[in-house]
Amino acid sequence: MIEPAAVKRIAVLGAGTIGGSWIAWFLARGMQVSVWDPRAEAADFVRSYVTDAWPAMARLGMTADASPDAWRVCATAEEAVADAEFIQENAPERMATKRELYARLDPVVPADAVLASSTSGLIMSEMQAGLRSAARFVVGHPFNPPHLIPLVEVVGGRETASETIAWCLDFYRHIGKRPIHIRKEAPGHLANRLQAALWREAVSAVVSGLASVEDVDTAISAGPGLRWAVMGPHMTFHLGGGEGGITHMLEQFTPAFEAWWASMTTPELSEDTCRKIIDGLAEEAHERSISELVRERDELLIPLLELVAKRHTSR
Ligand SMILES: NC(=O)c1ccc[n+]([C@@H]2O[C@H](COP(=O)([O-])OP(=O)(O)OC[C@H]3O[C@@H](n4cnc5c(N)ncnc54)[C@H](O)[C@@H]3O)[C@@H](O)[C@H]2O)c1
Repeated sequence: MIEPAAVKRIAVLGAGTIGGSWIAWFLARGMQVSVWDPRAEAADFVRSYVTDAWPAMARLGMTADASPDAWRVCATAEEAVADAEFIQENAPERMATKRELYARLDPVVPADAVLASSTSGLIMSEMQAGLRSAARFVVGHPFNPPHLIPLVEVVGGRETASETIAWCLDFYRHIGKRPIHIRKEAPGHLANRLQAALWREAVSAVVSGLASVEDVDTAISAGPGLRWAVMGPHMTFHLGGGEGGITHMLEQFTPAFEAWWASMTTPELSEDTCRKIIDGLAEEAHERSISELVRERDELLIPLLELVAKRHTSR
């Protein structure tokens, strides 16, 4: 395989929400991107996504010597991957779609290229089964939008070579991401399972009338969410134990957490529950459109990312 630092040619398959954002990031890192997406308006979408994303990446200092125009849309997936050194796949989250695409690519993927799937939770072992190139297929799961959020979860399937996983971790690190290796396959990998666990309780709180949708959101964004941008749940609790750290925290809170866990239930996303969440969000949004909310989120996210990046590089 080519040295991760030498990669210049990327193929992006599927240019929707996630593919568009990955294209912006790869371009910002000075790469040439070959794109394939079956929808006719793909080129317009990519152009407009990259134009919108560029200023934020420039502000984060990520676009030096890079061109927002170093991409082209190819007529077929086969053409897009023909000379690729790395392939990021962002097709819709359906096993049959991904398997069909992989079966088409299997005979044409260049012998030293790695293919990473953005899948939010499908299992690579099932996607790669029986393919000749399976050893170089891996999950590289980003967070929306990948051109801003640093985390990428790297997960190998049964047939993925350990060299592919190591290569992929190095590659994402080299292009400025914060990759982590998820050591076993699980539906939803790791971070989406953590999000699902929290959202399960957030939905339960609304269903049981514990709090409104808006107050549940405030409970996180004005509370533990602020700390979680700085350190994860384990380290946060280490500090929650004062000078005694996690040992004291566990001595003090083990019975409480066990009782809280025992009292938690899984809500059903019934029509009635969905209605409560939809109405609660309409109230919380105060008539701001999705694009206004995205702008608001990103305006705060960018300085936050600058701060967090400073802390990461100073360690
Ligand atoms: N949306 C998110 O928050 C998010 C976050 C992380 C990962 N992902 C993952 O990224 C992948 C794409 O999700 P998305 O949200 O960008 O979806 P999307 O619907 O926005 O985009 C999917 C794109 O794939 C194209 N497409 C359709 N059939 C295809 C095929 N056979 N091959 C290639 N492309 C095809 C569509 O035209 C569309 O442009 C999924 O695997 C999803 O789980 C999504």
